[in-house]
Amino acid sequence: MTDHIAFSADRHALILLDQRFLPDREEYFVCRNTADTVYALQTMVVRGAPAIGVTAAYGCYLAAREAAEAAASDGAWKDRLAALLTELEEARPTAVNLRWAVSRLRGQWQAMSDPSLDALASAWLCTAQDMHAEDIEINKAMGKNGADCIADGDTVMTHCNAGALATAGYGTALGVIRAAFEQGKRIRVIANETRPFLQGARLTAYELSKEGIPVTVACDNAVGHLMKQGMVQKVVVGADRIAANGDAANKIGTYTVALIAKAHGVPFYVAAPASTFDLSLASGDLIPIENRTPREVTHVGEHRIIPENVPVYNYAFDVTPADLISGIITEKGVLTAPYAASIRAAIGGK
Ligand code: MRU
Repeated sequence: MTDHIAFSADRHALILLDQRFLPDREEYFVCRNTADTVYALQTMVVRGAPAIGVTAAYGCYLAAREAAEAAASDGAWKDRLAALLTELEEARPTAVNLRWAVSRLRGQWQAMSDPSLDALASAWLCTAQDMHAEDIEINKAMGKNGADCIADGDTVMTHCNAGALATAGYGTALGVIRAAFEQGKRIRVIANETRPFLQGARLTAYELSKEGIPVTVACDNAVGHLMKQGMVQKVVVGADRIAANGDAANKIGTYTVALIAKAHGVPFYVAAPASTFDLSLASGDLIPIENRTPREVTHVGEHRIIPENVPVYNYAFDVTPADLISGIITEKGVLTAPYAASIRAAIGGK
Protein backbone atom coordinates (compact mmCIF):
# COMPACT_ATOMS: atom_id res chain seq x y z
CA MET A 1 0.00 0.00 0.00
CA THR A 2 2.28 2.78 -1.23
CA ASP A 3 0.03 4.64 -3.69
CA HIS A 4 -2.07 6.44 -1.10
CA ILE A 5 0.18 9.51 -1.54
CA ALA A 6 1.06 10.11 -5.19
CA PHE A 7 2.22 13.02 -7.28
CA SER A 8 0.78 13.46 -10.77
CA ALA A 9 3.10 12.91 -13.72
CA ASP A 10 2.28 16.41 -15.04
CA ARG A 11 3.64 17.84 -11.73
CA HIS A 12 0.40 19.73 -11.07
CA ALA A 13 -1.33 17.77 -8.33
CA LEU A 14 -0.92 15.72 -5.19
CA ILE A 15 -3.32 12.77 -5.18
CA LEU A 16 -4.31 11.35 -1.80
CA LEU A 17 -6.37 8.27 -0.96
CA ASP A 18 -9.17 9.83 1.07
CA GLN A 19 -8.92 8.08 4.44
CA ARG A 20 -12.21 9.57 5.64
CA PHE A 21 -14.11 7.09 3.48
CA LEU A 22 -12.18 3.89 4.21
CA PRO A 23 -12.96 1.04 4.34
CA ASP A 24 -16.24 1.87 2.59
CA ARG A 25 -14.77 3.13 -0.64
CA GLU A 26 -11.40 4.01 -2.16
CA GLU A 27 -11.85 7.58 -3.31
CA TYR A 28 -9.06 10.04 -4.12
CA PHE A 29 -8.70 13.69 -3.13
CA VAL A 30 -6.70 15.99 -5.38
CA CYS A 31 -4.65 18.91 -3.97
CA ARG A 32 -3.66 21.64 -6.42
CA ASN A 33 -2.79 24.46 -4.03
CA THR A 34 -2.17 25.28 -0.37
CA ALA A 35 -5.84 25.62 0.54
CA ASP A 36 -6.47 22.07 -0.76
CA THR A 37 -3.47 20.69 1.11
CA VAL A 38 -4.37 22.40 4.39
CA TYR A 39 -7.96 21.15 4.02
CA ALA A 40 -6.71 17.58 3.42
CA LEU A 41 -4.50 17.76 6.51
CA GLN A 42 -7.10 19.31 8.79
CA THR A 43 -10.02 17.09 7.81
CA MET A 44 -7.79 13.99 7.88
CA VAL A 45 -8.09 13.03 4.24
CA VAL A 46 -4.47 12.16 5.08
CA ARG A 47 -3.35 11.61 8.65
CA GLY A 48 -0.61 9.99 10.70
CA ALA A 49 2.58 11.85 11.61
CA PRO A 50 4.99 10.73 8.85
CA ALA A 51 2.24 10.85 6.17
CA ILE A 52 1.38 14.44 7.01
CA GLY A 53 5.10 15.31 6.88
CA VAL A 54 5.43 13.90 3.35
CA THR A 55 2.15 15.58 2.33
CA ALA A 56 3.41 18.92 3.63
CA ALA A 57 6.64 18.50 1.64
CA TYR A 58 4.65 18.09 -1.60
CA GLY A 59 2.46 20.93 -0.33
CA CYS A 60 5.51 23.22 -0.29
CA TYR A 61 6.04 22.49 -3.99
CA LEU A 62 2.36 23.24 -4.72
CA ALA A 63 2.75 26.45 -2.70
CA ALA A 64 5.71 27.45 -4.87
CA ARG A 65 3.60 26.94 -8.02
CA GLU A 66 0.83 28.99 -6.46
CA ALA A 67 3.25 31.78 -5.55
CA ALA A 68 4.48 31.74 -9.16
CA GLU A 69 0.95 32.38 -10.41
CA ALA A 70 0.60 35.34 -8.03
CA ALA A 71 4.04 36.62 -9.01
CA ALA A 72 3.07 36.71 -12.68
CA SER A 73 1.36 40.06 -12.03
CA ASP A 74 3.68 41.84 -9.57
CA GLY A 75 6.86 39.70 -9.42
CA ALA A 76 6.72 39.58 -5.59
CA TRP A 77 6.71 35.96 -4.48
CA LYS A 78 8.95 35.56 -1.43
CA ASP A 79 6.61 36.94 1.26
CA ARG A 80 3.65 35.19 -0.28
CA LEU A 81 5.47 31.85 -0.38
CA ALA A 82 6.70 32.26 3.22
CA ALA A 83 3.09 32.87 4.33
CA LEU A 84 1.87 29.75 2.49
CA LEU A 85 4.55 27.64 4.20
CA THR A 86 3.37 28.94 7.59
CA GLU A 87 -0.21 27.94 6.71
CA LEU A 88 1.01 24.43 5.91
CA GLU A 89 3.03 23.92 9.06
CA GLU A 90 0.22 25.21 11.25
CA ALA A 91 -2.44 22.94 9.75
CA ARG A 92 -2.27 20.59 12.76
CA PRO A 93 -0.37 21.21 16.00
CA THR A 94 0.70 17.91 17.59
CA ALA A 95 2.66 15.84 15.06
CA VAL A 96 6.07 17.47 14.82
CA ASN A 97 6.72 15.80 11.44
CA LEU A 98 4.65 18.54 9.80
CA ARG A 99 6.96 21.30 11.01
CA TRP A 100 10.01 19.09 10.52
CA ALA A 101 9.14 18.63 6.82
CA VAL A 102 8.39 22.30 6.16
CA SER A 103 11.52 23.45 7.99
CA ARG A 104 13.63 21.02 5.95
CA LEU A 105 12.39 22.65 2.75
CA ARG A 106 12.63 26.14 4.21
CA GLY A 107 16.27 25.36 5.11
CA GLN A 108 16.89 24.24 1.54
CA TRP A 109 15.52 27.59 0.30
CA GLN A 110 17.81 29.48 2.69
CA ALA A 111 20.82 27.45 1.54
CA MET A 112 20.23 28.33 -2.15
CA SER A 113 21.60 31.74 -2.97
CA ASP A 114 18.72 33.85 -4.26
CA PRO A 115 17.09 31.09 -6.39
CA SER A 116 14.49 31.74 -9.06
CA LEU A 117 11.06 30.47 -8.10
CA ASP A 118 11.30 27.83 -10.84
CA ALA A 119 14.62 26.55 -9.53
CA LEU A 120 13.30 26.46 -5.98
CA ALA A 121 10.12 24.62 -6.99
CA SER A 122 12.09 21.98 -8.93
CA ALA A 123 14.47 21.48 -6.01
CA TRP A 124 11.54 21.12 -3.61
CA LEU A 125 9.77 18.54 -5.75
CA CYS A 126 12.95 16.42 -5.80
CA THR A 127 13.28 16.75 -2.01
CA ALA A 128 9.63 15.85 -1.43
CA GLN A 129 10.08 12.75 -3.60
CA ASP A 130 13.25 11.85 -1.67
CA MET A 131 11.44 12.28 1.65
CA HIS A 132 8.63 10.08 0.37
CA ALA A 133 11.06 7.28 -0.59
CA GLU A 134 13.20 7.75 2.55
CA ASP A 135 10.20 7.35 4.83
CA ILE A 136 9.43 3.91 3.40
CA GLU A 137 13.05 2.81 3.91
CA ILE A 138 13.07 4.22 7.45
CA ASN A 139 9.91 2.29 8.30
CA LYS A 140 11.40 -0.93 6.96
CA ALA A 141 14.53 -0.41 9.09
CA MET A 142 12.35 0.32 12.10
CA GLY A 143 10.29 -2.81 11.40
CA LYS A 144 13.43 -4.94 11.29
CA ASN A 145 14.70 -3.48 14.58
CA GLY A 146 11.35 -3.87 16.29
CA ALA A 147 10.50 -7.37 15.07
CA ASP A 148 12.86 -8.77 17.72
CA CYS A 149 10.54 -7.38 20.40
CA ILE A 150 7.73 -9.65 19.14
CA ALA A 151 7.78 -13.38 19.90
CA ASP A 152 6.25 -16.22 17.91
CA GLY A 153 2.66 -16.68 19.10
CA ASP A 154 2.23 -13.16 20.53
CA THR A 155 -1.01 -11.24 20.36
CA VAL A 156 -0.03 -7.62 19.82
CA MET A 157 -2.35 -4.76 20.68
CA THR A 158 -2.13 -1.48 18.77
CA HIS A 159 -4.02 1.78 19.10
CA CYS A 160 -5.04 4.12 16.25
CA ASN A 161 -3.42 3.50 12.85
CA ALA A 162 0.36 3.67 12.64
CA GLY A 163 0.48 1.71 9.41
CA ALA A 164 1.25 2.25 5.75
CA LEU A 165 -1.63 4.74 5.57
CA ALA A 166 -0.10 6.84 8.36
CA THR A 167 3.31 6.98 6.66
CA ALA A 168 4.65 6.97 3.11
CA GLY A 169 4.35 3.18 3.29
CA TYR A 170 4.94 0.06 5.48
CA GLY A 171 4.17 1.83 8.75
CA THR A 172 5.80 2.39 12.14
CA ALA A 173 3.94 0.26 14.71
CA LEU A 174 2.34 -1.80 11.92
CA GLY A 175 5.76 -1.92 10.23
CA VAL A 176 7.05 -3.76 13.30
CA ILE A 177 4.05 -6.10 13.15
CA ARG A 178 4.50 -6.59 9.38
CA ALA A 179 8.20 -7.38 9.80
CA ALA A 180 7.51 -9.93 12.55
CA PHE A 181 4.82 -11.52 10.36
CA GLU A 182 7.16 -11.56 7.33
CA GLN A 183 9.71 -13.41 9.52
CA GLY A 184 7.15 -16.18 9.88
CA LYS A 185 6.14 -15.40 13.47
CA ARG A 186 2.57 -16.50 14.14
CA ILE A 187 1.11 -13.33 15.55
CA ARG A 188 -2.34 -11.92 16.00
CA VAL A 189 -3.26 -8.26 16.30
CA ILE A 190 -5.87 -6.54 18.43
CA ALA A 191 -6.74 -3.17 16.90
CA ASN A 192 -8.42 -0.84 19.38
CA GLU A 193 -11.22 0.88 17.53
CA THR A 194 -9.97 4.38 18.50
CA ARG A 195 -12.95 6.64 19.09
CA PRO A 196 -13.95 9.05 17.69
CA PHE A 197 -12.32 8.93 14.22
CA LEU A 198 -12.04 5.11 14.35
CA GLN A 199 -8.56 4.83 12.85
CA GLY A 200 -8.16 1.38 14.43
CA ALA A 201 -11.51 -0.05 13.36
CA ARG A 202 -11.49 1.47 9.89
CA LEU A 203 -7.84 1.78 8.87
CA THR A 204 -5.73 -0.70 10.86
CA ALA A 205 -8.29 -3.45 10.29
CA TYR A 206 -8.45 -2.52 6.56
CA GLU A 207 -4.67 -2.61 6.13
CA LEU A 208 -3.97 -5.80 8.06
CA SER A 209 -6.91 -7.82 6.74
CA LYS A 210 -5.91 -6.89 3.17
CA GLU A 211 -2.53 -8.49 3.84
CA GLY A 212 -3.82 -11.57 5.63
CA ILE A 213 -2.43 -10.58 9.05
CA PRO A 214 -4.97 -11.85 11.62
CA VAL A 215 -6.65 -8.85 13.22
CA THR A 216 -9.51 -8.50 15.70
CA VAL A 217 -11.08 -5.13 16.52
CA ALA A 218 -11.92 -4.36 20.16
CA CYS A 219 -13.72 -1.40 21.70
CA ASP A 220 -11.32 1.00 23.42
CA ASN A 221 -12.92 0.26 26.76
CA ALA A 222 -12.18 -3.48 26.44
CA VAL A 223 -8.42 -3.00 26.98
CA GLY A 224 -8.48 -3.71 30.74
CA HIS A 225 -10.55 -6.86 30.35
CA LEU A 226 -8.43 -8.21 27.49
CA MET A 227 -5.19 -7.67 29.39
CA LYS A 228 -6.61 -9.13 32.63
CA GLN A 229 -7.57 -12.27 30.68
CA GLY A 230 -3.94 -12.61 29.48
CA MET A 231 -5.06 -12.05 25.88
CA VAL A 232 -2.33 -9.47 25.07
CA GLN A 233 1.43 -10.16 25.15
CA LYS A 234 2.77 -6.88 23.70
CA VAL A 235 1.55 -3.40 22.85
CA VAL A 236 3.10 -1.46 19.94
CA VAL A 237 1.88 2.04 19.06
CA GLY A 238 3.13 4.95 16.97
CA ALA A 239 3.82 8.52 18.11
CA ASP A 240 3.19 12.05 16.93
CA ARG A 241 5.89 13.74 18.97
CA ILE A 242 8.45 12.45 21.46
CA ALA A 243 10.07 14.87 23.91
CA ALA A 244 13.74 14.80 24.92
CA ASN A 245 12.91 12.74 28.05
CA GLY A 246 11.01 10.04 26.10
CA ASP A 247 7.45 11.17 26.91
CA ALA A 248 5.44 10.30 23.79
CA ALA A 249 2.30 11.93 22.39
CA ASN A 250 0.03 9.61 20.42
CA LYS A 251 -3.67 9.21 19.68
CA ILE A 252 -6.02 9.85 22.60
CA GLY A 253 -6.40 6.69 24.65
CA THR A 254 -2.78 5.56 24.28
CA TYR A 255 -1.92 6.72 27.81
CA THR A 256 -4.77 4.62 29.20
CA VAL A 257 -3.51 1.57 27.27
CA ALA A 258 0.01 2.15 28.66
CA LEU A 259 -1.25 2.38 32.25
CA ILE A 260 -3.26 -0.80 31.93
CA ALA A 261 -0.31 -2.56 30.26
CA LYS A 262 1.92 -1.56 33.19
CA ALA A 263 -0.64 -2.90 35.68
CA HIS A 264 -0.63 -6.26 33.90
CA GLY A 265 3.10 -6.51 33.14
CA VAL A 266 2.55 -6.27 29.37
CA PRO A 267 5.53 -4.66 27.55
CA PHE A 268 4.51 -1.37 25.89
CA TYR A 269 6.57 -0.20 22.87
CA VAL A 270 6.45 3.03 20.88
CA ALA A 271 7.68 2.90 17.26
CA ALA A 272 8.67 6.21 15.64
CA PRO A 273 11.26 7.62 13.24
CA ALA A 274 13.87 10.26 14.18
CA SER A 275 11.65 12.92 12.54
CA THR A 276 9.05 12.40 15.34
CA PHE A 277 11.45 13.45 18.12
CA ASP A 278 11.36 17.05 19.30
CA LEU A 279 14.48 17.55 21.39
CA SER A 280 13.58 21.21 21.93
CA LEU A 281 10.94 20.04 24.43
CA ALA A 282 12.26 18.82 27.78
CA SER A 283 9.13 16.84 28.59
CA GLY A 284 5.79 15.76 27.19
CA ASP A 285 3.96 18.41 29.23
CA LEU A 286 5.10 20.91 26.60
CA ILE A 287 3.63 19.03 23.61
CA PRO A 288 0.65 20.93 22.15
CA ILE A 289 -2.47 18.76 22.12
CA GLU A 290 -4.90 19.22 19.25
CA ASN A 291 -8.50 19.90 20.22
CA ARG A 292 -10.74 18.90 17.33
CA THR A 293 -14.29 19.71 16.35
CA PRO A 294 -16.97 18.39 18.78
CA ARG A 295 -18.84 16.98 15.80
CA GLU A 296 -16.48 14.00 15.65
CA VAL A 297 -17.76 13.00 19.12
CA THR A 298 -21.38 14.16 18.96
CA HIS A 299 -22.14 12.35 15.70
CA VAL A 300 -21.66 8.90 14.24
CA GLY A 301 -21.83 9.59 10.53
CA GLU A 302 -24.80 11.89 10.08
CA HIS A 303 -26.50 10.66 13.24
CA ARG A 304 -26.32 12.71 16.45
CA ILE A 305 -25.72 10.47 19.52
CA ILE A 306 -25.35 13.14 22.24
CA PRO A 307 -28.13 15.54 23.27
CA GLU A 308 -28.04 19.02 21.73
CA ASN A 309 -26.15 21.61 23.79
CA VAL A 310 -24.17 19.07 25.85
CA PRO A 311 -20.47 19.94 25.57
CA VAL A 312 -17.91 17.26 24.76
CA TYR A 313 -14.14 16.86 24.99
CA ASN A 314 -12.36 16.03 21.77
CA TYR A 315 -8.67 16.08 22.64
CA ALA A 316 -7.08 14.18 19.78
CA PHE A 317 -3.88 13.10 21.57
CA ASP A 318 -2.50 12.29 24.99
CA VAL A 319 1.01 11.90 26.36
CA THR A 320 2.38 8.62 27.70
CA PRO A 321 5.11 9.26 30.28
CA ALA A 322 8.46 7.67 29.48
CA ASP A 323 8.38 5.46 32.57
CA LEU A 324 5.49 3.47 31.09
CA ILE A 325 7.42 2.76 27.87
CA SER A 326 9.46 -0.48 27.62
CA GLY A 327 11.34 0.65 24.51
CA ILE A 328 11.20 3.20 21.69
CA ILE A 329 11.72 1.47 18.35
CA THR A 330 13.46 3.70 15.80
CA GLU A 331 15.33 3.22 12.53
CA LYS A 332 18.51 3.64 14.60
CA GLY A 333 17.73 0.82 17.04
CA VAL A 334 15.51 0.15 20.04
CA LEU A 335 16.07 2.87 22.66
CA THR A 336 15.62 2.03 26.33
CA ALA A 337 15.62 3.92 29.65
CA PRO A 338 17.17 6.18 30.72
CA TYR A 339 15.66 7.84 27.66
CA ALA A 340 17.23 11.28 28.00
CA ALA A 341 20.62 9.65 27.40
CA SER A 342 19.61 7.04 24.82
CA ILE A 343 17.60 9.60 22.79
CA ARG A 344 20.43 12.15 22.88
CA ALA A 345 22.92 9.51 21.71
CA ALA A 346 20.75 8.11 18.89
CA ILE A 347 18.76 11.14 17.73
CA GLY A 348 20.81 14.13 18.97
CA GLY A 349 22.44 14.72 15.60
CA LYS A 350 19.48 13.69 13.39
O1 MRU B 1 -5.09 12.04 14.25
P1 MRU B 1 -4.23 11.11 13.48
O2 MRU B 1 -4.96 10.00 12.83
O3 MRU B 1 -3.30 11.84 12.55
O4 MRU B 1 -3.31 10.45 14.60
C1 MRU B 1 -2.38 9.49 14.20
C2 MRU B 1 -1.69 8.83 15.33
O5 MRU B 1 -1.91 9.13 16.48
C3 MRU B 1 -0.64 7.82 14.97
O6 MRU B 1 -0.57 6.82 15.93
C4 MRU B 1 0.72 8.53 14.87
O7 MRU B 1 0.64 9.63 14.01
C5 MRU B 1 1.78 7.63 14.42
S1 MRU B 1 1.61 7.28 12.71
C6 MRU B 1 2.86 6.33 12.15
